Amino acid sequence: MKRLSFICILCFMAFVLFSCAPEKPKEFKATAISENEVDPEVWGKVYPIHYEMYKQSQEPTPAGKSKYKKGWDTDKVIYDKLSEYPFMALLYNGWGFGIEYNEPRSHFYRLIDQLEIDPSRLKPGGVCLTCKTSYAPELEAKYGINYYNKPYKEVWSWIPEKHRKLGDSCIDCHNPKDASLQIRRGFTLVKALQTMGVDTNNIPHQQMRSIICAQCHVTYVVPRDKDMKPTGLFFPWQGSKLGGITIENIIKVLKSDPAYGEWKQAVTGFKLGYIRHPEFEFFSNNSTHWNAGVSCADCHMPYKKMGGFKVSEHRIMSPLKSVMKACLQCHSETPEWLKQRVLTIQDRTMSLLLRAGYQTAVTAKLFEIANKAQEQGKKLDQNLYNKAKDLYLEALYRVIFIGAENSIGFHNPTEAGRILGDATAYASKSEAVLRTMLAQAGVSVPVNIDLELKKYLNGRGEKKLNFKPEQEFKDPYGTQQNIEALLK
Ligand code: HEC
Ligand code: HEC
Ligand code: HEC
Ligand code: HEC
Repeated sequence: MKRLSFICILCFMAFVLFSCAPEKPKEFKATAISENEVDPEVWGKVYPIHYEMYKQSQEPTPAGKSKYKKGWDTDKVIYDKLSEYPFMALLYNGWGFGIEYNEPRSHFYRLIDQLEIDPSRLKPGGVCLTCKTSYAPELEAKYGINYYNKPYKEVWSWIPEKHRKLGDSCIDCHNPKDASLQIRRGFTLVKALQTMGVDTNNIPHQQMRSIICAQCHVTYVVPRDKDMKPTGLFFPWQGSKLGGITIENIIKVLKSDPAYGEWKQAVTGFKLGYIRHPEFEFFSNNSTHWNAGVSCADCHMPYKKMGGFKVSEHRIMSPLKSVMKACLQCHSETPEWLKQRVLTIQDRTMSLLLRAGYQTAVTAKLFEIANKAQEQGKKLDQNLYNKAKDLYLEALYRVIFIGAENSIGFHNPTEAGRILGDATAYASKSEAVLRTMLAQAGVSVPVNIDLELKKYLNGRGEKKLNFKPEQEFKDPYGTQQNIEALLK
């Protein structure tokens, strides 16, 4: 009897489920588009819903939703990272990033933003267009070395006139034949994956949903000849494996060849490499989400229903700006709870980044003191100097890495903690070695080093500080105030 009523209940539930279930959304049907079609308008004729979402990324993202990625929501102001994090102005002084370094905008603006930025940032040449124009692969194939080293504006003028301001295009991520996911920038990404032994013809679909983002959201090296002209472009993934591209290995590559020195740090005089937006490396390195099979697209392109179809959101942006909709695909907590998780992780990461960044800046200023003493004829122990330099580079590259990664720790919280903890330790050790070396040489150094931050912030080239009062950084742990008190 019991069993019978149980079966009845089951039947009833099944009936309710099937009769009341919403109509299953239609899946998308692919239609072939001609090979190499870059124009999103042409794609839009076949996929009008996607084109509409894609065009929405021209609009500013909603204000007040994200704490650290304010982006460009208020008054079309683009936030300037150097004003917000003054230690960066000190450390990056000496090249483009020390003159203008903005928070990102949407894909639509990626070429426009480059055209509007301080020209010093474009000095390397055409190579800068690699992640910006959808024509990069054709230009690279056609012009070879000239693509990399001819002046930016010249290479830019090789783009068909109609598309000289075109940011992203469907073909960046899709095969025109059937709109399946496809790597377009083979000349960088496919090569890099192959150096790690990845079979690039058989990448699982769920991984592809992250790999296509790795065409651009990765760090890269632009090797230079003796006249500092670019000779190519590659990702420093040698010695790593997919799912474990570590900061240790990246630094090893950067240190391995003087040709990878791209700029001279003003404060220390060191020729250095650089690390840009390493979202893919950071996220894929054993993060909880990567290991659980979650992809970039899961969080930045959540599914939604439009016109009866189940589609992926093509207005690609921070999940905080769409009320955590992406997270709710998998998590059952409330949006507010999830947002608090993100903010807590970010606040802690920022506290550590400030600690590591300022400690590295202090060490940089000690090198400045040491270099001056040397110029004035003081004999410094070169073994100690080199040891301190080695430790300093370990710290600096870690600070640059987390500072350039765009999630403020969220993509891989524990890894952010590890990297920044190491950075502080390396920079402190370097400081200790420098102080010992200077004391031995009879150079007296004050306990508190003046960072002269005002000098670095104001001496930033032609452009005025794009600073808004809310950029005055206050984290809940008071790290910045603590550090400032320590430095006084
Ligand atoms: C062809 C290069 C390229 C590819 C491929 C690419 N991006 Fe981007 N992305 C960029 C650039 C460049 C920017 C910064 C644009 C700017 O500031 O002008 C950016 C910005 C962003 C932003 C910030 C948007 C905002 O509103 O501030 C997000 C989020 C993002 N990308 C996620 C992704 C995801 C997820 C993928 C993969 C599905 C991806 N991107 C693929 C180049 C790319
Ligand atoms: C588990 C969800 C999740 C995954 C997976 C994920 N992200 Fe994010 N991403 C976030 C969150 C949360 C932020 C922080 C946004 C904020 O602070 O507004 C973020 C920030 C970003 C930003 C800066 C956004 C902005 O508005 O400037 C970029 C760019 C980005 N992610 C790209 C990627 C790429 C590329 C991948 C894959 C390699 C990836 N993300 C994987 C959740 C995710
Ligand atoms: C930055 C990369 C990127 C760009 C640019 C992009 N897409 Fe997508 N698109 C994706 C991803 C990721 C998916 C999910 C595909 C999957 O999981 O197989 C997707 C899915 C699709 C689908 C399948 C249905 C769906 O929504 O899941 C269509 C159709 C599509 N995109 C069309 C377009 C069109 C048209 C454009 C240009 C207007 C465009 N895409 C631009 C990354 C991109
Ligand atoms: C595609 C599914 C998926 C999406 C989308 C997703 N998550 Fe997760 N998340 C997981 C899984 C699986 C885990 C592993 C732990 C578990 O079983 O809950 C996890 C773990 C977490 C954790 C614990 C992390 C840790 O290191 O212990 C947090 C916090 C979290 N997610 C927040 C978010 C937020 C915020 C978003 C949206 C920006 C998001 N997740 C999007 C599947 C997802």
